[in-house]
Amino acid sequence: MPCGARAVPPSARGGSVVTGLFVSIDGPGGVGKSTVTALVAEELRAAGAAVLATREPSDTALGRLARNGTDDYRGLTMACLIAADRHADMPDLAVILNARAEVLDKRLTSRGAHSRYERAPGGPARECAAFREAARFLMAAGVRVVQCDASTDSPQDVARRVLAAVRDIGMRGSP
Ligand SMILES: Nc1ncnc2c1ncn2[C@@H]1O[C@H](COP(=O)(O)OP(=O)(O)OP(=O)(O)O)[C@@H](O)[C@H]1O
Ligand SMILES: [Mg+2]
Repeated sequence: MPCGARAVPPSARGGSVVTGLFVSIDGPGGVGKSTVTALVAEELRAAGAAVLATREPSDTALGRLARNGTDDYRGLTMACLIAADRHADMPDLAVILNARAEVLDKRLTSRGAHSRYERAPGGPARECAAFREAARFLMAAGVRVVQCDASTDSPQDVARRVLAAVRDIGMRGSP
């Protein structure tokens, strides 16, 4: 489930000031979204940017119902709950953090599964495939996508790539 950050980099070029940037950090359960989001937010704040780090499902009552309700709600009902909790449009930068399914299987076994999707046999493999598809969908929709592999890249490596893309967008102006 996704994490996101809105950052306002203190950069301007050609008279156009970047007034806000929506960065989504998405991927299968346990892939490292929260870890990377915290690192990116910390770096951006240290650089003087105002950052709102948030997540979906959100921490509102509606978001908690979706997050904690994966055994009670399914199919269209769950899709509607997630959609009702969604506050954001397409991101300016979409980070898809993926990993090999066997790496996620091990991580979820040691950490414990948080949802029906993570507990299901073959769940991580299905989630990995779904996020590869999500990356293709976003690219086809014209969204700038950064894909990272948390099987090989450390959270610091991923955060560095995200920050480089944020700075690049900040230099060029929001798409
Ligand atoms: N790139 C990485 N390589 C190795 N371990 C990692 C990596 N990223 C995160 N971890 C570890 O994996 C575990 C899960 O990380 P994290 O909570 O950030 O994942 P998440 O995607 O936010 O999970 P959830 O889907 O439950 O929100 C943590 O123990 C974290 O230290
Ligand atoms: Mg998380």
